[in-house]
Amino acid sequence: MDGAEAPITNGTNLVEVRNLVKHFPITRGIVFQKQIGAVKAVDDITFEVKRGETLGIVGETGCGKSTTARLLVRLLDPTAGTILFDGQDIAAAKKDDLKALHREVQMIFQDPYSSLNPRKTVGSIIADPFVIHGLLKDSGERRKRVQELMDRVGLNTEHYNRFPHEFSGGQRQRIGVARAIALEPKLLVADEPVSALDVSIQAQVLNLLRGLQREMGLTLIFIAHDLSVVRHMCDRVAVMYLGKIVEIAPSDDLYGFPRHPYTGALLSAVPVASATGGRRERQLLTGDVPSPANPPQACRFHTRCFKAQELCSQEEPLLEPKGTRNLAACHFPLSEAEARLRLPAALSGANGSTNERGSRTIVDQSSSSSST
Ligand SMILES: Nc1ncnc2c1ncn2[C@@H]1O[C@H](COP(=O)(O)OP(=O)(O)O)[C@@H](O)[C@H]1O
Ligand code: SF4
Ligand SMILES: [Mg+2]
Repeated sequence: MDGAEAPITNGTNLVEVRNLVKHFPITRGIVFQKQIGAVKAVDDITFEVKRGETLGIVGETGCGKSTTARLLVRLLDPTAGTILFDGQDIAAAKKDDLKALHREVQMIFQDPYSSLNPRKTVGSIIADPFVIHGLLKDSGERRKRVQELMDRVGLNTEHYNRFPHEFSGGQRQRIGVARAIALEPKLLVADEPVSALDVSIQAQVLNLLRGLQREMGLTLIFIAHDLSVVRHMCDRVAVMYLGKIVEIAPSDDLYGFPRHPYTGALLSAVPVASATGGRRERQLLTGDVPSPANPPQACRFHTRCFKAQELCSQEEPLLEPKGTRNLAACHFPLSEAEARLRLPAALSGANGSTNERGSRTIVDQSSSSSST
């Protein structure tokens, strides 16, 4: 990463998550409900996010990404663990503290339509945060600020009185972004913000988020279900599998030399056009993700891992340094040769075959995805 593109971070942590757990009880019975099990959606995760940094969280559907996001913005109560935000434990925050927290921590949702009230105009949706927090009480001032926000996210200010259904998917996500940045939060949690959008629109929304993050000095947690989007957005990436973080590393290290076999499998499934415009075959992960209500013993990936040995189903691997700057939870991490096999040339970074990372501009991937 060149100097001009270095994250605007002073090296201190804005967020520190320690041993965070969220289990959803499974109950049986109509009158007397009895707990018969639990969905271990998030099961003891620890990570931190520095000020001004963008952390990606990636994993297949059902791995616990949205649950993690909802815990971080305290839309969910954790089962156990601590979440330090700016030094304060918000895991146990009460209602009044949460209102203050929601000025500083905001979320963008995957589905821009269902997260916007269809009966409200765009102007009043974006003004909501000011109303909830008793700010900008003068309606003229509020309207002016909302129009500034609309302009900032690329919406036509003349559409102030329109309703969400009158906008395209990309524009609706811009409305969600405007609402999320209205109070100038310190942390923005974006939960698959472009997954529901047409591929041709995705790059525009990603560039918008990247621009805002730089201008506002935002700290961003960016969630995606595959690694292709995250690479151009994130300084570091955490890979989740069945409620656990299985690997976390600076983007260049994760994409240059993945150590966890699951990361390798996700990378090999990324569709990319190579520098010469050629394409590579995708090697998709086989089998479904096991149920988080009954995850495999010890290493949860052992039922799908090509490197699994007896130890893997007996002893849980810890998230530990594995050479380079990667932490990975694996007894038998990928060798360099195994990792290289899983890397498309255009992604391996080290050979500089693309300049996308250097410019940190998200390129429209429609050409590489349209044929898949
Ligand atoms: N409110 C809930 N009640 C019960 N189970 C839930 C709830 N929310 C999520 N889950 C389960 O937790 C697991 C993780 O879900 P989620 O965090 O949404 O994963 P992801 O965002 O990675 O797809 C899934 O098995 C999901 O069905
Ligand atoms: S611990 Fe074993 S099963 Fe788990 S990822 Fe590593 S090699 Fe595969
Ligand atoms: Mg999700």
